[in-house]
Order: sequence, then structure tokens, then C-alpha cells
Amino acid sequence: MVKEGLTTPLFKIMEDRFKNWKYPKIVEGKLTKYNWLVQHKKNLKLGKKTDMGAFTYINAKNGVVIEDNVQIGSHCSVYSISTIDNKKGKVTLKKNCKIGSHSLIMPGVTIGENSIIGAFSFVNKDIPDNVIAVGIPAKVLRKIKK
Ligand SMILES: CC(C)(COP(=O)(O)OP(=O)(O)OC[C@H]1O[C@@H](n2cnc3c(N)ncnc32)[C@H](O)[C@@H]1OP(=O)(O)O)[C@@H](O)C(=O)NCCC(=O)NCCS
Repeated sequence: MVKEGLTTPLFKIMEDRFKNWKYPKIVEGKLTKYNWLVQHKKNLKLGKKTDMGAFTYINAKNGVVIEDNVQIGSHCSVYSISTIDNKKGKVTLKKNCKIGSHSLIMPGVTIGENSIIGAFSFVNKDIPDNVIAVGIPAKVLRKIKK
């Protein structure tokens, strides 16, 4: 695979993408215009310049905090309650973290600032700041160089 070089700095791309960012309209249990959905929306705290992909599902029954600049890929699930295994707890996605597509975040988990979760991960433990974590269950792959 050829990794193409960026001709525009990453921070510039982010700046341009979010120039006109507005707080999205969320209706309980309905797809937003970006095709993600939230249940128990009154318990969701959504930061600025957040970006969620299509078909991502958030169950905020026990609280979900998504801080500023968090990016979540498509087809992710963020559960503050999991009835299959009877787990519950607030989920916190700290600022600038990124969640790869098709990942599942379990109740009670905090994902640290700037950290990246690889696609198709199952996150059932806290992830520290500034790391890349991947897998089922998600484990730290490496630190992110600053
Ligand atoms: C996690 C991620 C950021 C790592 O990217 P990277 O730093 O370029 O890492 P590499 O591709 O060099 O992979 C490093 C190792 O981790 C493994 N790996 C990478 N992503 C993985 C994932 N999601 N799950 C499991 N293992 C993964 C690679 O196979 C490789 O293992 P090896 O050293 O044994 O060969 C990237 O693979 C990823 O998952 N990005 C999410 C993309 C996405 O969801 N995009 C859509 C939303 S915008």
C-alpha cells in the first residue's frame, strides 16, 4: 500500500472541515442528518467540533461525555449500559481522541486525550492519554509521539 504524503498540514485540514461546525440537532432515538443516533440524549454531553460517522449508536443512559474535537468513525457503538452482560457506567471520550470504525466502547470506559482506537476494536478498559490501542479487547499498541 502506498501512503500518500500530505501536501496540507493536518491541523489545516481539521480547521477547514470544522470552520462552519454547528451543534447537531439530536432527536431522541432518531438518526441525525449525519445518520448517527442517540438514546437517552439528555445524558449525552457533546463537545464542540466533534465528528461522528454514519450508523454510530450512542446509548447514554448512564452518561456519555464526548469532549471537544473527538472523532468517531462510522458503525461504532458507545454503551453506558450493556444488557447482555449487565454492565453499566459513564463513558468518557476525552478531547481529541479518535475511535476507528466498527469499534465498541463498553460501559465505564474512559478513553484518554489524543488517543486513537483502531478500527474494529472492543474497548472494555480505560485507555490512557496519547496512545494508539487496537484489538479485541483493545490493548495499547504504542504511544503517540508529540
Ligand atoms: C490503529 C491505526 C490508527 C494504526 O495505524 P498505523 O499507526 O498506521 O499502524 P500500522 O498500520 O503500521 O499497524 C501497526 C500494527 O498494528 C496492527 N493494527 C493496525 N490497526 C489495527 C486494528 N484496527 N486492529 C488490530 N490490529 C491493528 C497492524 O496489523 C500492525 O501489526 P504488525 O506490527 O503485527 O504488523 C489504524 O490501523 C486504524 O485502525 N485506523 C482507523 C481507521 C478508520 O477507522 N478510519 C475510518 C474512520 S475516519
